[in-house]
Amino acid sequence: MSQTEALQKRFGAALMPNYGMPPVAIGRGLGCRVWDEDGREYLDLIAGIAVSSLGHAHPAVVEAVTRQVAAVAHTSNLFLHEREIELAERLLCLLGGNDTPQTPPAPRGGPPPPPYPRPGPPRPGPARGRVFFANSGTEANEAAIKLVRRCQGPGRPVIVAAEHSFHGRTMGSLALTGKESIRAPFGPFGLTVRFVPFGDAGALRAAVGPDCAAVFLEPCLGEGGVVPAPEGYLRAAREACDRAGAMLVIDEIQSAIGRTGAWFAHQAEGVRPDVLTLAKGLGGGLPIGACVGFGDYGTGFAKGDHGSTFGGNPVACAAALAVLGTIERDGLLARVAATGERLAAGIDAVRHPLVAGVRGRGLWLAVVLTVPRAADLEAAARQAGFLVNAVQPDAIRLAPPLILAPAEADEFLTAWPAVLDQVEQP
Ligand SMILES: Cc1ncc(COP(=O)(O)O)c(C=O)c1O
Repeated sequence: MSQTEALQKRFGAALMPNYGMPPVAIGRGLGCRVWDEDGREYLDLIAGIAVSSLGHAHPAVVEAVTRQVAAVAHTSNLFLHEREIELAERLLCLLGGNDTPQTPPAPRGGPPPPPYPRPGPPRPGPARGRVFFANSGTEANEAAIKLVRRCQGPGRPVIVAAEHSFHGRTMGSLALTGKESIRAPFGPFGLTVRFVPFGDAGALRAAVGPDCAAVFLEPCLGEGGVVPAPEGYLRAAREACDRAGAMLVIDEIQSAIGRTGAWFAHQAEGVRPDVLTLAKGLGGGLPIGACVGFGDYGTGFAKGDHGSTFGGNPVACAAALAVLGTIERDGLLARVAATGERLAAGIDAVRHPLVAGVRGRGLWLAVVLTVPRAADLEAAARQAGFLVNAVQPDAIRLAPPLILAPAEADEFLTAWPAVLDQVEQP
């Protein structure tokens, strides 16, 4: 019996069966590669579902986490610590709210320094905001749901969300999740949710009325199969919310922190949400979620309204600061855009009866199939040494670490036609 089989046997006997049986037992990782417990090497093109933004064992994360855990690993919210403040400030800067230019360093003799970069036109975004830290995506959304209730009161009972959306597995986030098969078995819920077809601005406008407290939207459906919203959709949502007095909550749990080649996907449309939720790639593998309230919504919670024992944990915050610092220092946003283009173009160039096309942006792509054979294709890719994800029956998701090198993208592209050939043709 292999190590993997032995672990699968123990897994099956000790863990709840909600995940089915995972096919690989990962023992370690480095950069964009992981090794299973039997020593097989894989190129990781899914990054723990868009989480390991700097890959595995990145020195910046290792150093930050090690230093922090040796200093203080946990404080609870009875006490503050500097990392959470730093991280909240950093996120607000990236969101454009506190984007004040720094003072240039004073010249120390020699030639004068180049003119300090002047701030461009004000970035779309709020002037003010506040952050609540949680431990996961679903918790970030739970915070957002409570914030909506707190700000809008009981007179607006309805939340509008999209069909095929995914917002998490806890009861509030699940109530907003537009995938019937995972929501329906757990109803009834304590929320009244009106679902609209994703991407249909007319349907959204019609659904947002005076009874509506908020609209929850992903800028691009992640679990729904990496389906970007049509251009103008988020703007239409913003307008509909403004007209009806509803709050716009953008769930960027999967799409933010460089995944699309921008810090935040919604920035591409120049739309300002009232609330933004983050998680996944923010912690680079450490569990952290964030709910950002903009303007007056940032102070919507009163003392005692919400909390989390672990939320904003110093170690997770230190990891997140390392992630944000490294993305900036290494110019990863531009690299994500370029490597994503290369990957998408390379996939697109292969004509194959199994492939209908490729969609997505940056290092967040779905290969759309002509038949529902994504599970077989995922297995064939794994056999060939590549971890990808059958996100839908007819779509394979690629969400590799943001540090994916062009040569690593090419490695996959070289193997791709043979991987496709492993699957029964339509
Ligand atoms: C858009 C979106 N929202 C929320 C979640 C839930 O996040 P978590 O699994 O960390 O609770 C996910 C997870 O896939 C997601 O993609």
